Amino acid sequence: MLSWDEFEQEDGALPLVKATTQEPATTEAVAAVVEPPAPVASAREQVANFKSNLEVSEEKQNSDILQQAIEGLEELDVDAGLEELEGSANRVAVDDKRMINCRADLNQLVPFKYDWAWQKYLDGCANHWMPQEVNMTADIGLWKDPNGLTDDERLIVKRNLGFFSTADSLVANNLVLAVYRLITNPECRQYILRQAFEEAIHTHAYQYCIESLSMDEGEIFNMYHEVPSVAKKASWGLKYTQELSDPKFNTGTTENDQALLMNLIAFYCCLEGIFFYCGFTQILSMGRRNKMTGTSEQFQYILRDESMHLNFGIDMINQIKLENPNLWTDEMKEKATQMILQATHLEIEYARDTMPRGVLGMNAAMMEEYLQFIANRRLIQIGLPEQFEGVQNPFPWMSEIMDLRKEKNFFETRVIEYQTGGALTWD
Ligand SMILES: [Fe+2]
Ligand SMILES: [Fe+2]
Repeated sequence: MLSWDEFEQEDGALPLVKATTQEPATTEAVAAVVEPPAPVASAREQVANFKSNLEVSEEKQNSDILQQAIEGLEELDVDAGLEELEGSANRVAVDDKRMINCRADLNQLVPFKYDWAWQKYLDGCANHWMPQEVNMTADIGLWKDPNGLTDDERLIVKRNLGFFSTADSLVANNLVLAVYRLITNPECRQYILRQAFEEAIHTHAYQYCIESLSMDEGEIFNMYHEVPSVAKKASWGLKYTQELSDPKFNTGTTENDQALLMNLIAFYCCLEGIFFYCGFTQILSMGRRNKMTGTSEQFQYILRDESMHLNFGIDMINQIKLENPNLWTDEMKEKATQMILQATHLEIEYARDTMPRGVLGMNAAMMEEYLQFIANRRLIQIGLPEQFEGVQNPFPWMSEIMDLRKEKNFFETRVIEYQTGGALTWD
């Protein structure tokens, strides 16, 4: 009979087994005896020890540049490269994943921990659209007709294109330069990349409207320097989001983790969740009255994207709070409430500036109530108490637009079919 004794290798790497013969072996048993497996190097060691065949065939020998390129490859230090990759080189388990300060490898998308983030990525892709698909002909005719719109209506179109055309660039910068780096979870980063592309589409949409209507581009794109109610919102957004754009900023201390959390609240709840709502309501109200229907349609798709950005941001904020309960102190709650109230105040000022009189069936007082209603919602969404008692939503139709599903009416207006990979032909 054979008995197998486990023994440790000298280097202590892998437990192996060895055969010791105590009795004469039977034929069958002999057949079953195999060489014990050779010590298996770890995947990491295998990669580091791998030598590729870098020999160049003779007919190519004359090419100096090829020879140099291959010599360069010989110097490649794979092990050092692996060290430099984010996180450890181990396989990732769901429990290793965290929203911030995660040490697990960020290049491994699965297994998913935050299914909501991946689902939003899929939903965002399913809602893909491009500004050129929207017919702008009616808008061009109306804008050029001296009697097409009132002065108050023109003011609304110009102010909103002015605000949004630069605001979305500000949003994209903050996303790509700060939020993406500091959120240490691959499924969230996947959505953030999708969101960043959507912000590029939004900036494209505003530029497309400005160009279609032959507006003075200098005037529109400089409004955030020149018009006080626009400038105030832009500088508030910069103040509360730009510190994290400092490449030296890092999370890992309570103070800095709190700074990131505040930035996310400013970014998602205030910038995307409050500062866009007066403008969206005004332009969409215009479309409901059959005016500037192309511009309004662009804003309709943008609003649908934005409501998903907001929901994603709220999920991230609440998940960070859940994983790091020490961050969500009474002082932080008070600061967050004050930020939401400040943003609401600036948006009400913007409403008054853009609507000196009643227009399009609305006025600044109605917008004030709507913004207070929105502020209450933002507070509740991140677990804070409402601040405006008894306010109602004067524009319930806005919620219907936000919930717009593509199967209802989005694709009815589309003029371009997307080419998918399968439809492409290659020469
Ligand atoms: Fe946007
Ligand atoms: Fe957005």
